[in-house]
Formats: sequence, C-alpha cells, structure tokens
Amino acid sequence: MTDLLNQAYDPENFRDQAHRLVDLIADHLESSYNQSDNIVLPWMDPDLRLRKWQDEIGQEFDFEPFWKDTIAETIHIHHPKYMGHQVCASLPLAGLGELLNGTLNNGSAIYEMGPVSTAMERVVIDWLCGAIGYGKKASGVLTSGGSLGNLTALLAARQHQSGFDHWNEGKIDGFHPAIMVSEESHYSVSRAVQIMGWGEKGVIKVPSNHLHQLDASQLEFIYDRAIKQGLTVIALVANSCSTSTGSYDPLEDMADFSEKKGLWFHIDGAHGGAAAITPKYRHLTKGIERADSVVIDFHKMLGVSALTTAVIFKEGLRSYETFNQKAFYLFNNEEREQWFNSAVRTMECTKNMMGVKVYAILRTYGPQIFIDHFTTLYDLGRQFASLLSACSDIEVPIEPESNIVCYRYIRPEKTDDELNVLNEEIRRKIIESGRFYIVKTRIGQKTYLRTALMNPFTSQADMTALISEIRRFGESG
Ligand SMILES: Cc1ncc(COP(=O)(O)O)c(C=O)c1O
Repeated sequence: MTDLLNQAYDPENFRDQAHRLVDLIADHLESSYNQSDNIVLPWMDPDLRLRKWQDEIGQEFDFEPFWKDTIAETIHIHHPKYMGHQVCASLPLAGLGELLNGTLNNGSAIYEMGPVSTAMERVVIDWLCGAIGYGKKASGVLTSGGSLGNLTALLAARQHQSGFDHWNEGKIDGFHPAIMVSEESHYSVSRAVQIMGWGEKGVIKVPSNHLHQLDASQLEFIYDRAIKQGLTVIALVANSCSTSTGSYDPLEDMADFSEKKGLWFHIDGAHGGAAAITPKYRHLTKGIERADSVVIDFHKMLGVSALTTAVIFKEGLRSYETFNQKAFYLFNNEEREQWFNSAVRTMECTKNMMGVKVYAILRTYGPQIFIDHFTTLYDLGRQFASLLSACSDIEVPIEPESNIVCYRYIRPEKTDDELNVLNEEIRRKIIESGRFYIVKTRIGQKTYLRTALMNPFTSQADMTALISEIRRFGESG
C-alpha cells in the first residue's frame, strides 16, 4: 500500500471531502432554485472549454475551487429557466443514492454482487408494474437508459415472435423481420432494429395524423403492403409520448391491431409512459396494460437521476427471452426463477445500484412524489402553451398533450424559410446569452423552438420572461 493510496482511501479524508462537496451542491441547488445565480448554461465554445480543462490539469489542485468551478461551468438543470431536453431536475435524494452507488460500488450483475440493490430493484419494478395496471405475472428489470430499454424489449420480441431460436440460430434465409412504428418515434427504436441487423427496411414507418399521433386507420394497409414485400412484421411499437412534439399514440387501437395480427405490442414510454400512474393524466395511456412490454425512464418524468430505466413485461418470464430462448431463468438446474441475477435479463453485466435510488425515494416520500412530479410538469406544459397561444407573434402548431411544447416566433413579412433561419437565430442567441436553455425541432419543413418543462420550480414569471426574450431576439433578427 503506498502513501498515496492510503490517503485516497482514508475514511476521514472522504468524510471531510464529502461534507464540503455536499455543502457546495446544496448551495448550488439553492442559488438555482431562487435564481440568485441567473445563468443556466455558461456558454463557451467547445474547443475553448477543452483548452481550459487541459490547462487546468497541470495546475496546483485545490479541492473547493475545483468543485465550485465544475459546478459553475456546467449546465444547471435545476435552474427554473432550464427548459430544454428531457432530463429532469433530479430529486436531491437521488444524488445521495448516487453517492452510495459510487462509494460502495456493488456491481449487481449477480445477486451476491448487489444483494440489497437487487431486492430493492424487484420491489420498485413490482410497484411500477402494479401502478400502470399490469397483473401479477408482470415483471422486468432496470437498465441504463431508454435506448437500451427499447433494444432489450425488442430483442425479447424478436426471440418470442420469430418462430425459431433466433438468438442461437441467427439469420435464416427468407426471413426478413420488421416492426411497425409511427414516423414520430425516437431514433433509438430504429437504431435497435438496425443493431439487430434488419436494415432500414426493418423499420416500417406508419404516418401520423395532424396531432402527430400514429394514424391507426393506416395500420391495415401498411401491414398488408409489408407482407406483400416479403417482410415478417413481428411487432408494433407505440410512442407514449413522442420526443419531438410529446404526442401520445392511440394505444387501444394499436393493442387491438396487435392482437388481431398476433404482433408483439411494445410501448416506448420513456418520456410519458408514467402518465399511467397519475390520476390526472392516466387517460393519455389508456390501454398501456395491454402492451407486451413497456419502457419508462425514471430519469425523465419521475425525478430520479440518469440513467434509470424500467423495462417491464406483461408476461414477466418473457424478459428472459431477450438473450436466450431456452428457459434461462432456470439457472444451475434449479427449478427457480432467477429474478435475482439481473445479468441474465439485461445488456449490462456490471450495473449501477439503480434500485437503491428509486427505492429510497419511494420509501421516503411514497408513490405520491412521482405523481406530484409528473403532474406538476404536465400542468406547466399546458400553462406555457396557453401563454404562448395568447401571443399574436407566436405560432403553437399543436396543443401539447405533455410537458413538451413546440412554438415559433413569426413575422408576417417573412417566408417560411426566413422564419426557419430567424428561429434558429433566436435559439442560438438564447443559448449563448446563458439565461435560458431551450431546444429546437423540425415539424415538416418548419423549424420550431421546443421546450420541455422539466423543473417543478419553473413559474409563470419564468415563462413570461422567456417569451419576452424570444420577442426581443425575434424583433431584432
Ligand atoms: C420517446 C423516447 N424514447 C427513448 C429515448 C431514449 O432515452 P435515453 O436517453 O434514456 O436513452 C428518448 C430520449 O429522449 C425518448 O424521448
């Protein structure tokens, strides 16, 4: 053991550093919430920032300035004027779970390597299955992100639906599997299909209606056309909700169609699937309990830190089919379901102690914390949209169903192309000013500003201030 190792492992050193860092983080949260710090994203060109941190590495190290600077320089998701990508202002308790995770470093691939997080994960998954309306046979796993969650579920769908042992036999001639999904789906869905080797033709896009929801009246036609082209459609995938506009696909119609054609029905509920647990917004996910599999990100709408994703299955035993058709849950010849060895069902071998964060929040505040978090953010989405709709120089293309709101600044004398450029410019100026963070999207040929209300502290005053800023840049552009 070297002196350096001794110092680095010293519990008293850790105690002192942890207290100081937690104090800095708490100060940061306070100054973000009350906006005494008025910068959301301290903008700097990426190359300049890289140079700054390259130079820094050779300098003398001082604990507090280093952490202070790290916090100050990064994006402040907990600032009420952060209204950008779909990452939540995580509950501070989730951060304490992360501290435990990083310090105890339980790998959790197999039971012995994370006995408590494994048990907690099971409790959390069982709770979520019940809360969305799944029956007793449901189960699933936590995994690192919605993208991995979609792949995990679609691998299970492939194995279950192929009619042969796809996992072990691989591709066979004349079998061209495909999924049907709304043209609005997140790219992780088509990426999952292409990772599985089905090529571009493996993703059959179903057109959406004027509200950007999958148009169920097209399903029969699109399906028949795919069959005529020699494809075997194995799954239908729904958005609950879509990334770009936050639109909810018609789950009941899609479940009916899946049943009729014998398809696996998967719901990408990474962003908005948790509506199912809230009394106020449950109607948006009517039919969710009929899906074969559902993905829900705790780190988007449920206040948990990234990454924490639930992949849940109506028939829990199917989750073992992701990586093997054989009854992998019967492990070591034991007639016992191996729910406690998470590696048999997830892509990860070593994995974070995700269950601990979610369990700690559930245990401390009860399920109401998730309901409050989700409902507050969706309410804010509606509030923001109604403020925007009252402005004659702002266009809101669709009334939002979620907390994702798209809009653009308009000037009557400008063409659509000029308005695209103007709105790009508005966003650039907003980002570089650092006082707000918003993103953008394309709907058809038009560029829209896009805001996801991810912070329960965002108020009407913050929204009004953003609108003023947009107008200021819009008028001068
Ligand atoms: C609908 C949808 N699905 C999947 C994902 C991917 O989730 P993650 O970023 O956790 O991988 C996103 C991310 O924004 C999403 O909006």
